[in-house]
Amino acid sequence: ANNTDGLSGFPKYRIANIKDIQQQAQSSGCPVYFFAYPLTNEPCFLVDLQALLGQPVPEIPNPYYGQYAGPIGQIKTIQGVGPNNSIYAFSDVCVHLGCQLPAQVLVTSENNPGLDVTNSVLHCPCHGSLYSLMKGGVVVGGPAPRPLPIIFLEYDQNTGDIYAIGTNAPYFSASIPRTTPADNLLYDPRYSYSVPSNPSCSKG
Ligand code: FES
Repeated sequence: ANNTDGLSGFPKYRIANIKDIQQQAQSSGCPVYFFAYPLTNEPCFLVDLQALLGQPVPEIPNPYYGQYAGPIGQIKTIQGVGPNNSIYAFSDVCVHLGCQLPAQVLVTSENNPGLDVTNSVLHCPCHGSLYSLMKGGVVVGGPAPRPLPIIFLEYDQNTGDIYAIGTNAPYFSASIPRTTPADNLLYDPRYSYSVPSNPSCSKG
């Protein structure tokens, strides 16, 4: 599927340039890059799954396939962006009870019980939810009731700019999933998040 099929109602923001990510990867070995989308207090992260896993990952399944009546619900797979088609973006907020996820420790997972870098599993420290990024953010353990939302990306090959253009599901919210993509802009106002600075990886 083309990731832009039928997307509407979301802002298109430039969130990074491929050079930012490549320079960060060279200097720190970190394939994770934080950004805010669509609001400034909604943290998300880019991850180069090929750099993380050491194998090509040109697409991942959309776990929300079939859950919306509109075009987003018809997207079966989501394509990575960047030179290797291996850069993806996810919400950094656990859909269980809204804790911020420690995506910056993905690369040091051998030091963090419960994380499994070879399967790109991200661990929520609050109640132990486990999300497989390579499988599209599906829950592979713990109490999270649904997959981790994915941010759709667009890549400009000429400039190297990476844009966020929408999401496949609501971020943390009580109702799952809401019925129209525009509702994805809603979030629980009881929570306030900050976006970690880049370079983001912590060496544990
Ligand atoms: Fe993440 Fe509960 S908030 S597992």
